[in-house]
Amino acid sequence: MIDFAIADEAAVSAVREAAEVLRSGGLVAFPTETVYGLGAAATNDHAVALIFEAKGRPRFNPLIVHVTDPSAAAAIAEWPDLADRLAARFWPGPLTLILRRRNESGISKLASAGGETIALRAPAHPLARALLLEADLPIAAPSANQAGRISPTTADHVRQGLGDRVDVILDGGACPVGVESTVLDVTGERPALLRPGGLARHDIEAAIGETLVSNEAGGDTKGKPRSPGQLASHYAPRHRLRLNARDVAADEALLAFGSAPLKGASVIANLSETGNLTEAAANLFSMLHHLDRQDVAGIAAMPVPSIGLGEAICDRLKRAAVR
Ligand code: TXA
Ligand code: MG
Repeated sequence: MIDFAIADEAAVSAVREAAEVLRSGGLVAFPTETVYGLGAAATNDHAVALIFEAKGRPRFNPLIVHVTDPSAAAAIAEWPDLADRLAARFWPGPLTLILRRRNESGISKLASAGGETIALRAPAHPLARALLLEADLPIAAPSANQAGRISPTTADHVRQGLGDRVDVILDGGACPVGVESTVLDVTGERPALLRPGGLARHDIEAAIGETLVSNEAGGDTKGKPRSPGQLASHYAPRHRLRLNARDVAADEALLAFGSAPLKGASVIANLSETGNLTEAAANLFSMLHHLDRQDVAGIAAMPVPSIGLGEAICDRLKRAAVR
């Protein structure tokens, strides 16, 4: 049952159809406040496998399971006090928690890539929430892009990237946050930031009164990245991306930031003319998509300050620059 208002009847019946597709083991792309997700019933191994197939994603990369609220999360994973405090403060919203799976969780092992932990998040987007309630299932969903490509922030990006590999695309317009959720591991002695994202580190630290261990410090002893999404070339566009550009060539596209964009590029997109990092985060992937489609020799990106949401933006840009 959909227990809150969605604007129109068409959206309600689209959600019903999408929920039916999920229950019968199909794939649904749906909007969240961060980016579009490629969803499947998290309890269905075959459906989860279809996600990997559609994305062409390496099997070892675990998925985020989306739930409605903390009580649904606590049924799937061990739920420490810290998780409860964080969820009370930031759910629904762009925060993913890494927790220890319960044996009887019913969640496909494939969603955890065979590991002992599970990533859980309650998304805030009304269509995502409506879909979760109507399907009455936890939904496993990575970002709805081909593996290694830029995350989609519009239904059109999903169509271009995945096309008929997905059964239904729910169109909720552009995603307001625009970068993926912040991934926080709460299974260790201290909370560890595995992926900077739509919720700034500072906001988490302020809420819990504790500094977060960064991925490097929290990583295991073999020095492997703990979050496979930290693999260097995870967000690669087709074109070569040049970081911290202080000048730009005539045959390059420019990803600008701030009130003084470099001059001379053949095409330009400005993340935020006023230097607003929240606006820049919301624009990041759609502008990268746009510039990546241009007939240019490469993309030059102006520097973005690594503070607040700028940390996630710089992280994504750095990875997009690795080939
Ligand atoms: O905003 C988001 O998080 C979007 C929307 C759709 O919710 N989803 C998303 O999913 O970005 P994905 O699969 O593209 O990224 C999930 C990240 C990856 O970096 C993955 O390695 C990490 O979460 N992750 C998932 N399960 C994990 C686990 N058990 N332990 C450590 N990291 C995990
Ligand atoms: Mg992704």
